[in-house]
Amino acid sequence: MSIVGVISMKGGVGKTSTTANLASALTARLGPDRVSVIDLDPQNALHWHFGLKDAARPGLCQHAGHGNSLREVASQTPFDVTCVPYGAGTEADRKAFETLLAKTPGWLQEQIARNGLDDNAVVLIDTPPGPSVYLEQVFACADLLLIVLLADAASYATIPAMETWLADMHRTRPEVKTAYVLNQVNVLEPLNRDIAALLQQRLGPRVAPLGIQYDEAVCEAMAFQQPVLVYDPHGQASHDLSRLTTWLIHTLNQ
Ligand SMILES: Nc1ncnc2c1ncn2[C@@H]1O[C@H](COP(=O)(O)OP(=O)(O)OP(=O)(O)O)[C@@H](O)[C@H]1O
Ligand SMILES: [Mg+2]
Repeated sequence: MSIVGVISMKGGVGKTSTTANLASALTARLGPDRVSVIDLDPQNALHWHFGLKDAARPGLCQHAGHGNSLREVASQTPFDVTCVPYGAGTEADRKAFETLLAKTPGWLQEQIARNGLDDNAVVLIDTPPGPSVYLEQVFACADLLLIVLLADAASYATIPAMETWLADMHRTRPEVKTAYVLNQVNVLEPLNRDIAALLQQRLGPRVAPLGIQYDEAVCEAMAFQQPVLVYDPHGQASHDLSRLTTWLIHTLNQ
């Protein structure tokens, strides 16, 4: 089994969209029922990308209080990806869940292991921005962390904070692989192009060799509650995500 966390220090860079769209691209490559997504973000938005409209459906957040298995809160989506939503809990549910996560650093890892997924399953985990108990849980179980960045000054400014956090966390699990992924790249904008070049220079081979270009279809797909590979299979973002998937599978198998 491979576990991939999708993280960032800065909000709004495209973690949730990338988690959903990569899961869909991986399913297109690996076949149905091989890919699961877990929403570890209280925004509880990931299920929306897969057409799961019931906003009140229970998820991880309530699961923690009732001891259900991940399987019981997972939904099969119309896109052959299994989705575990964060859940629309109360503020008290969220606080209790975060307290549990803080006290039990290997909680998520144990839940995934108990779920009995096949050896060839891939699990993608969406996270909220910045350091948190959620990020620590993901670090404790991930094989690979994808760090999503925009090619802009605001994202560039967050790199030191991310690098410090990673250095701290790598002390406990040095084997966790990391790769920066540039999202919403716009090759027609000189500033965007320059910052992308600067990021390549600063981070070198730690930047994934392929980014995801800015493509309106990503926003539109979300509005239609579909992965972009289903909404616009021949568009730029779908093309980029398919190539990124080839790289991702190769990286996980290394
Ligand atoms: N490649 C892309 N091209 C165009 N728009 C994109 C692209 N990727 C993401 N977006 C848009 O950017 C916005 C933010 O994306 P998303 O919600 O996935 O970010 P996030 O990092 O998960 O945010 P948060 O930190 O709040 O969880 C959304 O409107 C999404 O549709
Ligand atoms: Mg998000």
